[in-house]
Amino acid sequence: MTEALLEARERTLALVVSLSNENLERVHSPLMSPLAWDLAHIAAYEDLWLVHRYGERPLLHEDLAATYDAFETPRAVRGDIELLGAAEARDYLCETRERTLQVIDERGVGDGQLHEMVLRHEHQHNETMLQTLQLACLREYEPAEPRALPVSPDPSFTGLELVEVPGGRCSIGAPQDGFAYDNERPRHRTDVPGFLIGRTQITNATYLTFVEGGGYERREWWSDEGWAWKEQCDITRPGSWTPDLAGEWRLGQLEPLHPDRPVVHVSWFEADAFARSHGARLPTEIEWEKASSWDQAAGTALPYPWGAEPPVPGRHANLDQRGCGTAPAGAHPEGASPCGCLGMLGDVWEWTASHFDGYDGFVAHPYREYSEVFFGGGYRVLRGGSWATRTRVATPSFRNWDYPQRRQIFAGFRIARDA
Ligand code: AVJ
Ligand code: FE
Repeated sequence: MTEALLEARERTLALVVSLSNENLERVHSPLMSPLAWDLAHIAAYEDLWLVHRYGERPLLHEDLAATYDAFETPRAVRGDIELLGAAEARDYLCETRERTLQVIDERGVGDGQLHEMVLRHEHQHNETMLQTLQLACLREYEPAEPRALPVSPDPSFTGLELVEVPGGRCSIGAPQDGFAYDNERPRHRTDVPGFLIGRTQITNATYLTFVEGGGYERREWWSDEGWAWKEQCDITRPGSWTPDLAGEWRLGQLEPLHPDRPVVHVSWFEADAFARSHGARLPTEIEWEKASSWDQAAGTALPYPWGAEPPVPGRHANLDQRGCGTAPAGAHPEGASPCGCLGMLGDVWEWTASHFDGYDGFVAHPYREYSEVFFGGGYRVLRGGSWATRTRVATPSFRNWDYPQRRQIFAGFRIARDA
C-alpha cells in the first residue's frame, strides 16, 4: 500500500512538472479548478481520512479544511477565493504524506479500505487535472514519459459494426471482496433482454459523416433538452475539433483529425443525437457492463473484459495517461470481452443511457458525498475509463457520472439496439 501511495504521488507531480506556478494557479476554464486547488485538495483529503480520521490526529490545516472540501467550496467559486499558491500546495502534499507514513508506521493500514479510497481519490484527480490541461490548451505543456500509441487494426472499425449479446440473467456490480465504491454495490443478478452493441466506439470518421450530413441541424435527431442546449451554446462539432473539421487539439498540440480514433469530447446530448440518426440508441449501463464482463459460457462476470488479469496498458487497453490521447478504435484485440467488444476499458469514457442512481439496497459508505448526494440529480452514467484513467481505477463495474451537456470529460460512446 505504501508503495502504491508513493507511486500515485510521483505521478501527480510528474503531471504538472512542466508547468509554471502561474499556470498552476490560473483558472483555465470556468468548469475546472485551478490545478493548485486539485493539489491542495488531494492533500486535504488524505489528511482528513488517513491522518485525522484513521490516525486520530488533529488536522494539519484546520483553517483550510473548508476551502479544500469539494462541497463547501464548489468549482465555480474556486477561482474567486484566496487559495494556496502552487509552492504551498506542494508543501501541503509533502507534509501530509509524512504524517500519513508516520501513522502507517504506528498502526498499519487496518483493512486497507480507507487507504485504497484515498489512493484512488488521487488517481481520479489526476484525470480531472488532465481535463483541465486539455481545456487549457497550453502549447508548452510537456507530458512526462509519453508512450507511442498502437496503429490501426486491419481492417479498421467505424463503430457501426455491432455484436449480439444474448438475453438472460447476469451479475452486475462489484464483487463482495476487494475495494469498490458504494455505488457499485450491492452486486445483484438481473435479467437483460438480448441486445446489439457496437464492437467499438464510434470513430471520428463516422462522427464526421454525421456532422457533414447535417447532424447538428436535423431537429428530429435531438431530444428537446439537447436541442435547446445545442442552440444556446452554438455547438456544431466535438469540443476538441477545429472549426474546419480537419484538426483536433490534444493536450495543447494541434493534430490532423485521426479518422479511426474514437470521437471524444462529445456531450451525452450529442451522443444521443448521433445514435438516433442511425436508428439506434445508447446502451444502458447494465447492457454496457454485461457486454464488457459477462462470460455467457461460464455463467460468471469476469473481473476484466479479457479475464482476471489487471490491464497491461498498451496490451489490453489504452489506460494510464502515457498515451496522451486515444488509440485507433479496436487497436487492442487482446482486450476483447467475451462477446467480442473491443476497447471497453480505456481510450474514452462511454456515455450510457442511464441516469445515475443507487442500485436497490444501496448503502452509503464511507461517506455520503462520494455518490449519494448526486443520485437523482440529472447525471448520466459513463463507463469504461479513458486514456487518462489510472489503471487501478478502471474496472467494468466502475460508474462515472456527469451532466448530459458536459464535454470536458474524455468521453465518447458506442451505440446499441434492441435485438
Ligand atoms: C467520480 C469522477 C465523478 O470528480 O466528482 C473526486 C470523483 N470524488 N473527488 C468527481 C471524485 C471526489 C468524482 N467522479
Ligand atoms: Fe476530490
